Amino acid sequence: MNDEESNLPANRLLQPTTAKWFAVVFGGSVLYAIVRYHLVGDVEWRHFPVFILNKATSLAAVIFVAASYLVGKTIRWYDDDKRLRLVVIKFCGLMGFSLAAIHAVLSLTIWTPAYFAKYFDDVGRLNLQGGLGMTAGVVALFFLSSPAITTLPMMPKALGGKRWKRAQRMGYLSLVLVAVHLVALGFKGWLKPEAWPGWLPSISLLAFVAAVIPLVVRRKLIYERQKR
Ligand code: HEM
Repeated sequence: MNDEESNLPANRLLQPTTAKWFAVVFGGSVLYAIVRYHLVGDVEWRHFPVFILNKATSLAAVIFVAASYLVGKTIRWYDDDKRLRLVVIKFCGLMGFSLAAIHAVLSLTIWTPAYFAKYFDDVGRLNLQGGLGMTAGVVALFFLSSPAITTLPMMPKALGGKRWKRAQRMGYLSLVLVAVHLVALGFKGWLKPEAWPGWLPSISLLAFVAAVIPLVVRRKLIYERQKR
């Protein structure tokens, strides 16, 4: 069934196209985490519900946020259907924010030296890596709330075009902070591919690439606009 045949209100966020996005992005992230950490790696299955699912959730969050800034720019699949394009952009943005919030809460339930020894010193206080990573993550989530809240239907009118656009662009700032969050927490592991289970890159590295792509595309578009 396609969106036309589904008889759903045109601007409904949950519809066949967005359901496919969710299945591919979230399903793909969960699958990758299972393969890397449980099947090829040696993490016990009892850690799946929080530790591993949290990794998958965080990867999906970054991919959704990145996609919300790429649809209509480099992802041109909906160029002939403006309404659907807007629905997909909104869905990706809100899903990215929701999954990032779930990731934040899940992370805090296991943020202990027992799970993350490398971010703590021997008396159980945060080291510089852990402190930087955490602060960048918390501020990233804060900046992500701005485009999410201003997606509410009354917001464009309440804020006016310019302020609304500025609020929407805060997501780029959030992506910069997500990149810092990932470098602080994951960088050391990125340099040791020989230690990656099955040569599969870590979720933090994949997410870093996903976070940086919209930033590069934005820079390129600004550069091209200035050249004209
Ligand atoms: C209050 C806010 C946040 C907290 C407390 C937090 C906490 C954490 C923690 C503890 C980790 C290490 C997880 C692990 O290695 O298993 C982590 C990694 C990660 N975080 Fe966050 N984070 C926050 C915000 C965000 C946001 C806003 C995003 C993206 C939109 C994000 C994306 C990621 C990703 C992709 C990873 C890598 C996971 C991995 O290496 O397996 N985080 N975060």
